Amino acid sequence: MFLSGAAAASAYVWIPKPVRGYTAAEMLATITIDNKVKPGTSKWELDTPALCVDLDKMEQNIAKMQSTLKVNGLASRPHSKTHKCAAIAKYQLQTGSIGICCAKISEAEAMIENGVDKICMTTSNPSKSKIRRAMAIRKKSSNFIQAVDLEENARDLSAAAKEAGVVADVVIDVAVGTRSGIPAGDDVLALAKVIDKLPNLKLRGMLSYDGGVQHAKGFAARKERALKTIQPNAEVFAGMKKAGLNAEIFSGGGSGTYNIMHQAPGFTDVQVGSYLFMDMQYLAIGGQDDANVYTDFQPSLTVLVTVLNNRFPGLLTTDGGSKAFTLNKPNAGVIGEPGMDYNAGSDEFGSIKITGTPSKSYKIGDKLECIVPHCDPAVNEYDWIYGTRKDKVEVVWPITGRGRSQ
Ligand SMILES: Cc1ncc(COP(=O)(O)O)c(C=O)c1O
Repeated sequence: MFLSGAAAASAYVWIPKPVRGYTAAEMLATITIDNKVKPGTSKWELDTPALCVDLDKMEQNIAKMQSTLKVNGLASRPHSKTHKCAAIAKYQLQTGSIGICCAKISEAEAMIENGVDKICMTTSNPSKSKIRRAMAIRKKSSNFIQAVDLEENARDLSAAAKEAGVVADVVIDVAVGTRSGIPAGDDVLALAKVIDKLPNLKLRGMLSYDGGVQHAKGFAARKERALKTIQPNAEVFAGMKKAGLNAEIFSGGGSGTYNIMHQAPGFTDVQVGSYLFMDMQYLAIGGQDDANVYTDFQPSLTVLVTVLNNRFPGLLTTDGGSKAFTLNKPNAGVIGEPGMDYNAGSDEFGSIKITGTPSKSYKIGDKLECIVPHCDPAVNEYDWIYGTRKDKVEVVWPITGRGRSQ
């Protein structure tokens, strides 16, 4: 039932004009890199496990995000931690995003090496070595912004910027919840004043991402919680402005709150990541239109797996285990087979328990297509993502930041 709901979501009425984020030259380049898979190949012929993105759905997700934000008066600064793919980042920038975010300095390096500019590092870099790496990126791009949340770190950053001969743009990471950042309050203002005076730093504003609220179930509950938790941060942002500090960025929000954050006073842009792909975790949160299934965005990201064993009654073994899916909670969803319970708990093998009546009798070598439990870590397992349209491979993109976890 849950998966039929998710599949039905993919047929909803809103049809945007697709815009391509890659050139013919880029497509040709991918053919030389991976000459086994030519554009036009059916996705069902791919060796598995294969990470695929349905380009129509992904483009529609991007267009829906952009049109909603336009109405609400916010910009998008998508988080590239989800896709780690320079080609997709370029597509997001071409379709109206004001920049991209990176979580790790090595991800940002991979982006800049592959021609993606306008990066906001949303994680502070407390070590001197990483600060120097950040400033090496800043030397290559005047659009680089670095998050800080500690005075000592800001001073180190200013010194490294001086050494690199640049002025570093910074945003203060102000916590929502207890993960990262400085708690909202007077300390933020004090830090902002220090940054404002440091010779090689330029204050740009603040970040406030609430990770916990994104998957809160039910739109009304999510909205109430998101607007409550952002309130102290909005007050701090207003305080920065009142103090005459440069506060032009107030960024945060994710795919679960993209249509809520415009109600937070002063908010400028959302750092949405998963909206591109979706996953089983996000499908379960429910939205404004459907309390049970989050239908705002279509599940475009899938992993194709092959049946390796069908000999045991009520069971199938596939070639997609934890190295193909990473997380196993909730379980991967087999498209079109609501009566299959997929367990990707073992390293190399997936184990499917047949709990209902399958649509056909599966033989060894048959393929199944699955929605991943959580998109970000799954993407990080693959060198390539196959972009398909109407089930045919149109492009093969390298996951340029794959494995860049530093
Ligand atoms: C700082 C930050 N911003 C944005 C995002 C993207 O959120 P989502 O994938 O829910 O859209 C994340 C995801 O973890 C994040 O850590």
